[in-house]
Parts: sequence; C-alpha cells; structure tokens
Amino acid sequence: MAYIKDATRFEGRLAPYAQRVQEMLDRLLVEPGAEAELDEAMRYCILAGVKRLRPAIVWLSAEAVAAGPSGVDLAAAERAAVAVELVHGYSLVHDDLPAMDDDTLRRGLPTAHVKFGEAMAILAGDALLTRAFGVLAEAPAHLAGALAAELAAGAGAAGMIAGQVADMGLSPVAGGLEGVQYIHGRKTAALIRAAARMGGVCGGADERSLLALSDWSQALGLAFQMVDDLLDVTASADEMGKTPGKDADAGKHSAVAVVGVQAAQKLVGQLSDRAVESLAPLGAAADRLRELTDLLVRRTR
Ligand code: IPE
Ligand code: IPE
Ligand code: MG
Ligand code: MG
Ligand code: MG
Repeated sequence: MAYIKDATRFEGRLAPYAQRVQEMLDRLLVEPGAEAELDEAMRYCILAGVKRLRPAIVWLSAEAVAAGPSGVDLAAAERAAVAVELVHGYSLVHDDLPAMDDDTLRRGLPTAHVKFGEAMAILAGDALLTRAFGVLAEAPAHLAGALAAELAAGAGAAGMIAGQVADMGLSPVAGGLEGVQYIHGRKTAALIRAAARMGGVCGGADERSLLALSDWSQALGLAFQMVDDLLDVTASADEMGKTPGKDADAGKHSAVAVVGVQAAQKLVGQLSDRAVESLAPLGAAADRLRELTDLLVRRTR
C-alpha cells in the first residue's frame, strides 16, 4: 500500500488524539461518591499510556464522513471516544483474569488482578463498563441513544462477548480459518466497528457512508486481531507490554495455530486491502482512514 511512506510518522500524528482522550478520561472518570480504592483501581486500568486506537477511529471516521472537523459534533465525538475506550479497558481487565487468559502483564504493568486482587479487578471492570454508558448518556440528546445502541451492539452478547465466549471454548466454532474469523470478528472487530459507526453518527453519516465505515472497520478489526495473534508469537514482552506465547500455551484457536505465520501474514495483507477498498465511496475524505489501516497492520505493539 502506498498511502504512507513512514508509518511511524503517522503514529506521531495520532498522538494528539491519544493526548486528548487521556485528558478526557481523566476528567470523565470522576464519579462523586466512588470509594478511593475503587477509583484508584479504575484509573490504573485505564490511564496507562497506550495507542488509544478506538478513540482515534471515532474521530477519524467522523471527520471522513463529515469531510473535515467542522462538520463533526465534537461534544458527541468526545464522549463516544471516551466511552469506547472505557469498554475496551474493562474488556482487557476481564480478559486477563485467572478464569480467562490468566495474564500477569498488560500495557507494560502488572495486570489489575495482580495489582489489586481478583475481586477488585472484576469490580473495577464492572465500574468502567457502567461508566461508559453514563458518559454516553450525557452526550448531546439527539445522538446519545444512537451512540449507546452502537456501543451496546458491539460490546454485547452478539458482539465482543460472543467472541470472548467462543475464544474461551464455551461455545462451538467451526474448525480452521472460518472459526478463527468468527472469533476475531466478534471479540475484536465488533468493538472496532462500533467505534467507526459511532464516529459516523457524530459526523452525520448517511446510510451509504455508514455502510462504508462498517465494511472498512470489520475488515480492519479482523486484520488487527490477526496481527495480535502474530505478535503473540513474533514479538517480545518489551515490545508489546504483555506476555508473548500465551495463545499457544493456552491452546487458543488463533490465526497462527490454524494457518501458520506466513499464511496469517498474507491474510493480513488481503484483509487490509479489502478494508481500503471498502472506503472507495468516501473518496479522498477517507485518506486518513487509509493511512490508519496501513499503520495498524504494520504495528509492532
Ligand atoms: C488489545 O487491544 C486487545 C485486542 C483486541 C487485540 P490493543 O492492542 O488496542 O490494546 P491497547 O489499548 O493498545 O493496550
Ligand atoms: C482480546 O483478545 C480480545 C478482547 C476482547 C479483550 P486477546 O486475549 O488475544 O487479547 P490480548 O492478547 O490479551 O491483548
Ligand atoms: Mg483473550
Ligand atoms: Mg488475552
Ligand atoms: Mg492476543
């Protein structure tokens, strides 16, 4: 793909979004009446400096369909960005629990249950998820319902949780690549798709643009999780901020387990091409989404 010559430069361009969401998370996490111990655990889970990919997807999707920042409902986009990151943060806390992936390292730090104990990690996750919908409830009234519906669909029992259930072997999946893509499409792509569609809502997208965003983010989400599966075998703990080799140890139905490293790398390329093709109806306004696609499939963390 020829959209960017230097992916690290684009990562620099995402930094302002990450900074903005960091400040908003800090502010919007405040819940008067929350106990200090819980507040500390929630902040620990959410405030580590990370990519903040999903908030960037909200903003860039909104700008793509509105053809620039001026057509975006900024108050709504800010709340959508924070809400999706809160859901993502909670999902990682629960994903790392001993009953699930049993991980001890996340974002370069001890996981929440290692730091605060299992009960507090579960409860902090519960509070982050709940806060996400509280944040959306205070979005501009004409958009709040649509944003909450998108987030609930992406994060819920037919979306991310369905994928986590299948990933844990608690529901049957097809063998081979079909099963992998069923899991990836739900545990990871569903929330990424919700971020893109929430951005579309904030940018006033029409049906056609919303469909383009959906198709793009679905393919991007599949590629993103396939890269995650690849990094699990190719990257170090230092690079990723999490423990490598976990998927094989746990016997996960991962892309690498099913098709091997080389075929998975090839599939990432095909999925990212498909993602970019989906953006055709949006024309040049979607150039930053094309750049983001390229950045994400080349990432090393
Ligand atoms: C990790 O997501 C979990 C997956 C869905 C692969 P990210 O790679 O976006 O994690 P952070 O937010 O940067 O820690
Ligand atoms: C995570 O998938 C998907 C979530 C919904 C959290 P993984 O279990 O592969 O994510 P990591 O590798 O722990 O970040
Ligand atoms: Mg997992
Ligand atoms: Mg995990
Ligand atoms: Mg993983």
